[in-house]
Amino acid sequence: MPSAGRRTAFVTGASQGIGAAIALALARDGFDMAVSSTHPEKLAAVVSGIEAAGARAVRVALDVRSQESIDKAMAQVVSACGHLDILINNAGVPLKKPALDVTPADWQEVIDVNLKGTFFMSQQMGRHLVKAGRPGCIVSIASTHGLVALASRSAYGIAKAAVMQMTRMLAIEWAEHGIRVNAVAPGRVDTPSRAWSLGEPGYRDSALARIPLRRFGTVDEVAAAVRYLASPAASYITGQTLVLDGGLTSC
Ligand SMILES: NC(=O)c1ccc[n+]([C@@H]2O[C@H](COP(=O)([O-])OP(=O)(O)OC[C@H]3O[C@@H](n4cnc5c(N)ncnc54)[C@H](OP(=O)(O)O)[C@@H]3O)[C@@H](O)[C@H]2O)c1
Repeated sequence: MPSAGRRTAFVTGASQGIGAAIALALARDGFDMAVSSTHPEKLAAVVSGIEAAGARAVRVALDVRSQESIDKAMAQVVSACGHLDILINNAGVPLKKPALDVTPADWQEVIDVNLKGTFFMSQQMGRHLVKAGRPGCIVSIASTHGLVALASRSAYGIAKAAVMQMTRMLAIEWAEHGIRVNAVAPGRVDTPSRAWSLGEPGYRDSALARIPLRRFGTVDEVAAAVRYLASPAASYITGQTLVLDGGLTSC
């Protein structure tokens, strides 16, 4: 069981990149942490980091494409932690492909992980909080691809746009239960899953040219935004998406 009086947060897809940074930041804020991966052995480094911050770490296997996996992971986390205060829907997969070439299998994968998984994880969290009669909060990682159009990002951008609408829908539906639901929409952040694009000739220069601050975001900047939305400082904020994009979508 977690230490008495400590709050617990669950970050999905925490093995690397933005999810790992969020898990470490929340552990430093005093949360006991549940972290997931489709391959839990990949969580060793983040678990060590959480424990080094003096927090407890619970690691679970989770594939958000599977309802059975969602149900099992949430049951394991609640059983191990006693209660869950905060859910961070970070698990996601990118897709850069011209719309003319997107296959039904591509579409299924992108929608299942980024949208369906986020909805049914949120539903489980909502059920848990309502049943417990306790307030809580959900933060989902959307993307600027859900706000502005860019070629070859259609399926991914559609999924992330829907995550932002889901955020508003769930926020108003669950407000009466004291559950806040928000999202963050990062622009380009350098993480392992995005490294491929830097090998494309001219990609970095053309991507940076569209960003007024002339740099990509960092995982720690995304984690800082999530920490804020999950904190009491954001107690009157619900249904919102906080955009972190160096000015990209203001152009
Ligand atoms: N990097 C960017 O530029 C950027 C910009 C805007 C938004 N985002 C969003 O931010 C989030 C994190 O992105 P990232 O760049 O840090 O990506 P990442 O390094 O690839 O991390 C994504 C995480 O999602 C998990 N995941 C993938 N498929 C999953 C599945 N079926 N079930 C459960 N977990 C799954 C992965 O876990 P395992 O492989 O360990 O299972 C991984 O830990 C994503 O939602 C992404 O769309 C990223």
